[in-house]
Amino acid sequence: MFRTKTCGELRIGDAGTEVTLAGWVQRTRKMGGMTFVDLRDRYGLTQVVFNVEHDQALTEAANHLGREFVVQITGKVAERASKNPNLPTGDIEIIADKLTVLNPSEVPPFTIEDESDGGDDLRMRYRYLDLRRTPVRRNLELRHRMTMEVRRYLDSKGFLEIETPMLVGSTPEGARDFVVPSRMNPGQFYALPQSPQTLKQLLMVSGMDRYFQIVKCFRDEDLRADRQPEFTQIDCEMSYVEQNDIIELFEGMAKHLFKEIRGVELTEPFIRMPWADAMKYYGSDKPDLRFGMRFVELMDVLKGHGFSVFDNAAYIGGICAKGAASYTRKQLDALTEYVKRPQIGAKGMVYARVEADGNVKSSVDKFYTQETLQELRKAMDAEPGDLILILSGDDIMKTRKQLCELRLEMGRQLGLRDKNKFACLWVVDFPMFEWSDEEQRLMAMHHPFTHPKDEDIPMLDTDPAAVRADAYDMVINGVEVGGGSIRIHDSALQAKMFEILGFTPEKAQEQFGFLMNAFKFGAPPHGGLAYGLDRWVSLFAGLDSIRDCIAFPKNNSGRDVMLDAPAPIDQKQLDELTLAVVTPEEEEK
Ligand code: AMO
Repeated sequence: MFRTKTCGELRIGDAGTEVTLAGWVQRTRKMGGMTFVDLRDRYGLTQVVFNVEHDQALTEAANHLGREFVVQITGKVAERASKNPNLPTGDIEIIADKLTVLNPSEVPPFTIEDESDGGDDLRMRYRYLDLRRTPVRRNLELRHRMTMEVRRYLDSKGFLEIETPMLVGSTPEGARDFVVPSRMNPGQFYALPQSPQTLKQLLMVSGMDRYFQIVKCFRDEDLRADRQPEFTQIDCEMSYVEQNDIIELFEGMAKHLFKEIRGVELTEPFIRMPWADAMKYYGSDKPDLRFGMRFVELMDVLKGHGFSVFDNAAYIGGICAKGAASYTRKQLDALTEYVKRPQIGAKGMVYARVEADGNVKSSVDKFYTQETLQELRKAMDAEPGDLILILSGDDIMKTRKQLCELRLEMGRQLGLRDKNKFACLWVVDFPMFEWSDEEQRLMAMHHPFTHPKDEDIPMLDTDPAAVRADAYDMVINGVEVGGGSIRIHDSALQAKMFEILGFTPEKAQEQFGFLMNAFKFGAPPHGGLAYGLDRWVSLFAGLDSIRDCIAFPKNNSGRDVMLDAPAPIDQKQLDELTLAVVTPEEEEK
């Protein structure tokens, strides 16, 4: 037997017993005639003591152990003289009688401890070593527990876990596809699924009724902290349901996860906020409701007083930061610079402080009387000690987005975005379409299979941009953790949707004929949702990036630096696939 116990389980009650442990040498310390070795495995850390008086040769051998050597140690459990209350095994140590080096190790490129000295890139290159670190391993353990709970919950609700293929045809989901050339079909390509959307709908036509899958999805899009090119969805679909049935069932799952994983009981139903309100009051379709600072529109109060910036603006919006009147000029200048950064793009920022005596002092005092400033204060519901911040612009949506960034930054600066507080909501009634400047056409906001609201269907012909969809997103702490919709199950309505989206009937038939044909054979009404598993885990673990809860993630350029992928392939492989790589220089010739 390699080991009789793990490095995380011995307690004071085990004192006097003989045990064999196996693991990695985290560090060794020599103190006089004693050598202490911290032995680590997945389960924890145990201190092992070698004593010259007890066994000189063995202690000598222990002195030669390097970091990350894999060793097997047999010895007696003893109560420690100086206990370590921070370690579950901190009351005991092992007095070693036997030491076997199972495998030596080179000096690791960074220290494998809770706080490592390795930079991001180095740790990614040696991710298998990074994963030995407790905080990283804990994220994977959490991920495991969450997927187990998801399976338990969905199984209890009658869902079947069904796998769908990874080599599929291209279906538009708003991002670019990753494609795979087919050797047996020269010149043809599979696409990796951006999600199993159409396949799960076909499973409803098949009568599977309740489907789920914890599934990899692939999207070739720009990466951010909450986006990876391959990520995992908890993908679900149900037949014979309305929006409310889906929302209730998956809100139940969210509450189940909060309770089982975080020990948080959420008793109240989640708020359901129409998309239009989310944009109006928070400038975002994923508002962070851990704090207030709702937008107040100030056009009526501030226009027409000779301040041309406001007089010419289509939108003027303010937020009230409670207790922030103490912000210094320097801090306010820094905030102005923040909103003027190219990524945000505001032209400037106006501020107004409510002083202790109730007077309002603003950065544009010369244009406004105290009377108007008091109107402003009233509109903002501001009290002495509060700070009002105002942005304006010609484009309502753009200015709201800028104000959203300012609100989030203020929330951060005032410590209101506490990672241990959770604000959950559904954003509902999304618009069916959004205009794409790049494509110069309407695009589906969720996806082309989403059902328009029944009462808005007549507007599909007259004013498609005003049509709302039976689509919903779940948002927690400003993160979109999931989204879904009721689907179209009627081939004629689906064909109409493709027409509005600019597909010719031939193109629609070519790309989606399989789905529209299936709808002709008794498709039940259906709908569903997909949760982003990586985002859920990082939310529960309090991580800044979903990368940290993925065993082998990609970096910001979409590279796996450990495997050094993507990489060129052999000429032989290219030939078999009838592919030729054309470099930009060759193309120019
Ligand atoms: P959607 O595109 O909204 O919907 O995706 C569902 C959820 O998946 C997560 N997510 C991501 N997570 C990490 N990296 C990414 N690149 C990424 N993209 C999305 C988000 C998101 O809410 N087929 C539909 C679902 C449906 O209608 O049932 C779909 O894929 O948390």
